Amino acid sequence: MTTTIQINGKPTTVQADPDTPILWLLRGELGLTGTKFGCGMALCGACTVHLDGEPVRSCVTPLAAVGARAVTTIEGLEGRAARAVHDAWLTLDVVQCGYCQSGQVMAAAALLARNPKPTDADIDSAMAGNLCRCGTYPRIRAAIHEAAELLART
Ligand code: FES
Ligand code: FES
Repeated sequence: MTTTIQINGKPTTVQADPDTPILWLLRGELGLTGTKFGCGMALCGACTVHLDGEPVRSCVTPLAAVGARAVTTIEGLEGRAARAVHDAWLTLDVVQCGYCQSGQVMAAAALLARNPKPTDADIDSAMAGNLCRCGTYPRIRAAIHEAAELLART
């Protein structure tokens, strides 16, 4: 079946069954490999993308559920919150192996877009579904606070 959805600001036509998880399309059909496959069961957050700015697990989001909503992947992430997250991640050298990090960045950018001054509890709640086997959690939390300060200054 042919379906057209908005991905990173562009109408994109894909040939797939409606129940195909969009992660398969992003990585396998469209070459957007910044979004990672971890568990395939909505348990790790590695596959996080935005649907109209809200973080979702693309491994369990079927094509049919997207509708007219805009899909944003790490390749298309932009805006003030995204830039602040990017800069803070570099400043605090958050990344270790990197595998989980596009999902972490997508979740952090969505958090800051709706809550530009999150508390530790807000961060822990928003990021709870994004696992990191390298244990970068303390740097992620610090980087989100740093990004919030960058947002407040700009
Ligand atoms: S791959 Fe989607 S949550 Fe783990
Ligand atoms: S940086 Fe290695 S899994 Fe998170």
